[in-house]
Amino acid sequence: MALSVLAVASECVPLVKTGGLADVVGALPRALAAHGVAVCTLIPGYTPVMAALGQGGREPRAARVMRDLFGGPARIVPAAIDGLDLLVLDAPHLFARQGGLYQDAAGTEWEDNGVRFAALGAAAAFVAGGGLPGRKFDVLHAHDWQAGLAPAYLRFAARRLASLFTIHNLAFQGKFPATLFPRLGLPAESFATAGLEYYGGVGFMKAALWFADHISTVSPSYAAEIMTSRFGMGLDGLLRGREQVVSGIANGIDTDAWNPATDGQLVARFDAADPTPRAANRAALAAELGLDGSEQGPLFAFIGRLAWQKGIDLVLESIPAIAGSGGRLVILGSGERELEERCRWAAGANPGRIAVFIGYSERLARLLYGGADAVLVPSRFEPCGLTQLIGLRYGALPIVARTGGLADTVIDANQAALAAGTGTGFMAAPDDAAMLGQAIRRAAAAWREPATWRRLQASAMASDVSWRRSAGEYARLLRGLAQPRA
Ligand code: ADP
Ligand code: GLC
Repeated sequence: MALSVLAVASECVPLVKTGGLADVVGALPRALAAHGVAVCTLIPGYTPVMAALGQGGREPRAARVMRDLFGGPARIVPAAIDGLDLLVLDAPHLFARQGGLYQDAAGTEWEDNGVRFAALGAAAAFVAGGGLPGRKFDVLHAHDWQAGLAPAYLRFAARRLASLFTIHNLAFQGKFPATLFPRLGLPAESFATAGLEYYGGVGFMKAALWFADHISTVSPSYAAEIMTSRFGMGLDGLLRGREQVVSGIANGIDTDAWNPATDGQLVARFDAADPTPRAANRAALAAELGLDGSEQGPLFAFIGRLAWQKGIDLVLESIPAIAGSGGRLVILGSGERELEERCRWAAGANPGRIAVFIGYSERLARLLYGGADAVLVPSRFEPCGLTQLIGLRYGALPIVARTGGLADTVIDANQAALAAGTGTGFMAAPDDAAMLGQAIRRAAAAWREPATWRRLQASAMASDVSWRRSAGEYARLLRGLAQPRA
């Protein structure tokens, strides 16, 4: 019989996405199905999610009503979208609003985020504990701080189920004032160091790390890094204490959703056997973005959040290395206002050489993966990273910092790797613009030797970036948790 898992998360492709969390939450159920694991995913009923449910004449199936969930009525609505078995938490007072998932349109965090995501955790425990007639689950799988209270609620629920909590990014911890605690409906003793208390307030990530039966994170290297004070973001002590139940499982990507042979956003589709049509995508990018179309050097792309974590400032510092190698650069992303401004300024100062698109565009992202020669991922820390995986799949060679999941998924094309024909990208020491510049120059030198570049591209495109192996690891872990414990 299939193992039945209730997943809970704040984002899920194809409905709502701000980053890699959504890709993973959307892709893992399909990957796990192949291992006899059935995943049902609970997500918040944000305005676009509710709109998607109503589309195409799809009537939500029977919904379960909760009379009062943190100050208003709520329903748990079952839905099937794109092969995903979903439960949508329809609580208009918490999730029906214009703006972002976590912030208003001006970029300020919603002031009731504590309550909004406590509700998500409480609803998850309610469902996991048998709250929906006819639906039984063996394990709860909660993702990131927004779902962090689910393992806490579950711990105090009548029907105890084992829980797995996956850390996607320890930098976002969901810390709220102590005044939130009385509203949570959790036993008084849980507000303690041995519980969800965190520096005098309520810590959602802290709660999960304390109450979950098992903790995983999204790459083996990051699993080791978060045990250290440098990467542990204040939670390394707690993590070291639980080291026996921490695993690192690298993310994959959905290789059907990310397939250059079928990608409808590309001007020219291609595959590993013949990547030459990429040139048409590169030309389309140059025309659309006003870049110099002559081919004196590689086209570099940065796709991601404009945040300190991602090292976009290091990319800007590396412009001389890019320009010196005849290269051009496209930046696609949004985030911190100051970094957005610096990117715009760089584009203004380098017409024809640097183009910047501030915002979110799935189409442009795909065209960049399919047309750029290399993607830059110089993160200061990176739990896993998906952009380098997509780059490998699309033959845009990743130039990455040696950290976290980047170190686990890219093989540096150093001399030995080149000789052995195993390199798939270029690596630089993290947080060091000079070293990033070196890696960019090495990539440009390889690009100028077509046979070398072709070989590297072939190795990159042959990398297994699918969920195949990691889904097997998750399946084993989830099965182990579901076994009756003494
Ligand atoms: P994060 O830390 O942001 O989750 P990941 O590398 O895990 O980083 O995932 C980022 C995902 O979001 C990738 O699928 C990437 O292609 C996508 N992405 C990031 N920024 C943008 C953007 N501005 N437009 C389109 N897609 C983007
Ligand atoms: C987080 C991390 C990123 C990871 C993603 C999906 O957003 O920053 O490294 O790939 O989650 O797990």
